Amino acid sequence: MSIQTIGIIGCGLMGSGIVEVCARSGFNVLVGEMDGELLKAGLARVRKSIERGASRGKISPEEAEATLSRIQGVNSLQEFAAADLVIEAITEHLEPKHRVFRELDAILRPDVIIATNTSSISIAAIAAITRRPDRVLGMHFFNPVPVMQLLELVRSILTSDETLATAQEVGARLGKTTVVAKDSPGFIVNRLLIPYIIDAIKLYEAGLATKEDIDAGVKLGLAHPMGPLTLADLVGLDTTLAVADVLYGEYGEPRFKAPPLLRQMVTAGLLGRKSGRGFYDYK
Ligand code: CAA
Ligand code: NAD
Repeated sequence: MSIQTIGIIGCGLMGSGIVEVCARSGFNVLVGEMDGELLKAGLARVRKSIERGASRGKISPEEAEATLSRIQGVNSLQEFAAADLVIEAITEHLEPKHRVFRELDAILRPDVIIATNTSSISIAAIAAITRRPDRVLGMHFFNPVPVMQLLELVRSILTSDETLATAQEVGARLGKTTVVAKDSPGFIVNRLLIPYIIDAIKLYEAGLATKEDIDAGVKLGLAHPMGPLTLADLVGLDTTLAVADVLYGEYGEPRFKAPPLLRQMVTAGLLGRKSGRGFYDYK
């Protein structure tokens, strides 16, 4: 199937990055949000990132303009009827994802693949709400999407070979390197990442070291680009908690259990960079 138009649901941290990368790769993009205000804010984030790329000389002003002209915000799921592929990037909870998948299933052509950017939720569980579980898979992008090379593709026991092959082709057109994982919560990367972030929060909670020293230890001692608490702030503490809860619920292993401090911070609205404050201050 020839894919020209990609629909993206959710224009938050990840959705806006996926919009940018798809449009820069020549796809027409339709993007939807919860309401007009959130859509406006998401599109402004996309524009800012593209303009930053242009000001740093990464893309020409003409390329930036052409990229922006390929992006269209939409106000209802009905408007995704023209999409050849849809990628869902909304909040990490099963119920809202189910609502979106159920509605999309009724709107999209039967041959259209619906992908989810979920970090942890079972692809089979999401697909079960549709009449096209063979055309549902995980297309798990990494944050920040324009920078990170990886695209983790996740196939459920019902995802067809053809669906996987199409997602691999799209990944290549987006300039990403794809890896394939089975539909086991957390897939490859988050199964390893989340216990690591949880442990770092526990060290901090226990007063073993300052947050700066924990981050500096990992950054300078292990040559990671950023320490675990800075990384948790980048991912979003709400998303980190949601993923930990899914993994703990599925595996029941203590290493996936969210520390009380993480839950308290999310309850207090300290979500990391996106809210202006998490382990660090960004205001
Ligand atoms: N959009 C576009 N480009 C961006 C960007 C963004 N949001 N953020 C950074 N960049 C680009 C910059 O333009 C810069 O490019 P050049 O060097 O070519 O000019 C480059 O990335 C480096 O940026 P900076 O110099 O501003 O900052 P940095 O060197 O500190 O790098 C970083 C920033 C890329 C975020 C780096 O710190 C990093 O790689 N951190 C780790 C990120 C990571 O691990 N992500 C995975 C999170 S887990 C996940 O995504 C899965 C999940 O389900 C939770
Ligand atoms: P986010 O909170 O920044 O953005 C989610 C967006 O979805 C919000 O703007 C919200 O308004 C919107 N939304 C919620 N319900 C919607 C609906 N019914 N229709 C349209 N839009 C809706 O979260 P995020 O970090 O972008 O995460 C999105 C998804 O990507 C989650 O499944 C998350 O697990 C996954 N993910 C996150 C990261 C990360 O580092 N943050 C990395 C990879 C994957």
